[in-house]
Amino acid sequence: MKSILITGCNRGLGLGLVKQLVKLSQPPENIFATCRDAKKATELTELAKKSKNIHIIEIDLVNTKDYDKIIQIVSEKVGNAGLNILFNNAGISTKFTRLGLVKEEQLTETFFVNTVVPILLTKALLPLLKAASNNFVDKSKMNINRAAIINMSSSLGSITDNTMGGFYPYRCSKAALNAATKSMSVDLKEDGILVTCLHPGWVQTDMGGSNAPMNVDTSVTNILNTLNSLTENHTGCFIQHDGKFLPW
Ligand SMILES: NC(=O)c1ccc[n+]([C@@H]2O[C@H](COP(=O)([O-])OP(=O)(O)OC[C@H]3O[C@@H](n4cnc5c(N)ncnc54)[C@H](OP(=O)(O)O)[C@@H]3O)[C@@H](O)[C@H]2O)c1
Repeated sequence: MKSILITGCNRGLGLGLVKQLVKLSQPPENIFATCRDAKKATELTELAKKSKNIHIIEIDLVNTKDYDKIIQIVSEKVGNAGLNILFNNAGISTKFTRLGLVKEEQLTETFFVNTVVPILLTKALLPLLKAASNNFVDKSKMNINRAAIINMSSSLGSITDNTMGGFYPYRCSKAALNAATKSMSVDLKEDGILVTCLHPGWVQTDMGGSNAPMNVDTSVTNILNTLNSLTENHTGCFIQHDGKFLPW
């Protein structure tokens, strides 16, 4: 895989992905890492100083009018090769999520960041993803070396697995992201672009909290192994970090 764009790379799983990608024996030629405030993203900026293949893009993704800036930076670096992977990772969760406490602004803000942003960013980057897909020699195959969109979902977005209730803003936003993933997989099949949504496990990040059973390194190692194993059989599916298929 030559190029990947990951959102939300200043901390948590996004930062973990960038850290492991640069250490690969054959790292991507270009890793585009978005963050909201580069001055606060000290670990990411230190890493980018040492690894010239990391390009930091400073953007608050709710400002969808600024996506031209992303396209410009990516296009300048990748040229006609296009972008191989868009990893929609950035996301938010909210505190008070039982039915009696949930607030309108929590529902709309979470839906915007977790659902609207990945859809609109995918729309904006589609020409670059299509270019990468067209450049791939074996047009019968789908894989991450050709072109892929990975949407970071959550098992909390599974309607089948919902036995505990609650979590209205987060569950609804991730279930909607799953629906968008399915539509993208149908719409982009002819273009040879693989689309999946991925559950990273319950992971020790600011969002997952310290009680989570898995650390970032383990989740990211599993995610990268799983990404490498993706084929046309996985497009339009909901997959866990270790490759297990999850119910919608
Ligand atoms: N940790 C878990 O157990 C778990 C489980 C299931 C799914 N997930 C999913 O995995 C993904 C990463 O989660 P995480 O655990 O790494 O969470 P995290 O540590 O809270 O990090 C979230 C990231 O998203 C970024 N972000 C939030 N709003 C943004 C916006 N408007 N514009 C740009 N970036 C924004 C944050 O940037 P700032 O630092 O600027 O806020 C941060 O980089 C999320 O989609 C989450 O839903 C996590």
